[in-house]
Amino acid sequence: MKPAIQIKNLSFAYGSKQVLHDVSMDIPERQVTAFIGPSGCGKSTLLRCVNRINDRIPGAHLTAGSVLIHDIDINRRDIDLQELRRRIGMVFQKYNPFAKSIYENVAFSLRVAGHNKRAELDEVVEKALRSAALWDEVKDRLHASAFGLSGGQQQRLCIARAIANQPEILLMDEPCAALDPLATLKIEELICELKKQYTIVIVTHNMAQATRCSDQTAFMYLGKLIEMGPTMQIFENPKNPQTEAYVTGSFG
Ligand SMILES: Nc1ncnc2c1ncn2[C@@H]1O[C@H](COP(=O)(O)OP(=O)(O)O)[C@@H](O)[C@H]1O
Ligand SMILES: [Mg+2]
Repeated sequence: MKPAIQIKNLSFAYGSKQVLHDVSMDIPERQVTAFIGPSGCGKSTLLRCVNRINDRIPGAHLTAGSVLIHDIDINRRDIDLQELRRRIGMVFQKYNPFAKSIYENVAFSLRVAGHNKRAELDEVVEKALRSAALWDEVKDRLHASAFGLSGGQQQRLCIARAIANQPEILLMDEPCAALDPLATLKIEELICELKKQYTIVIVTHNMAQATRCSDQTAFMYLGKLIEMGPTMQIFENPKNPQTEAYVTGSFG
């Protein structure tokens, strides 16, 4: 099967500070790929290259290489950024619902895209909330503020918001870092469910989480991809001594 995302010889800098060095990897479709590695190794930067939100950071730029999504180079000049970001949902470490109702958080991207029919929005909102395993908990309070939800619920709401517009890819940057263990478990179960439909890339520094929910794992160190492979192989039989040192906890 063709990969959903191909990263080819990618190098990236913030100003004159080179932070990614010649990273190449194929990210398979409808699987979960985890990026692991010590803080500062470039996981978030690499993730943000996939939907080009690094573009918003002054001075941030690709110095070499490319990112292809279904064979299209996303840094081509004629790429429609709005469409690119519709195809790629993103969830961040700190859950960040809008100061709006639960319903309007999920309906937001559709409204922006010009959909305003009540019945249509109702359907999409319900579907997204069900997919995010949140519907049963919120169906009686859809018009209450999102801020009244627990942290774990707010993060699942952000996931519902990210998938409402039917993206193909879901990027998650340490989505459980601000959550307690139970809420984390719920999100992990959800990730396992969502991969049936979406290509998921998750940054985590929780290695147990990578083993619980990813199919592929990429270990990064100092801006380089050290090793990538099936998650079990990376954790049980790493080929590279740096990977081994990291996954066995002797550094990082
Ligand atoms: N907006 C930024 N401006 C300048 N340097 C940055 C910025 N964001 C990240 N960096 C630097 O890039 C490197 C990689 O960071 P990051 O991608 O956040 O790593 P990770 O997610 O693995 O912790 C680090 O040295 C970090 O300090
Ligand atoms: Mg990070």
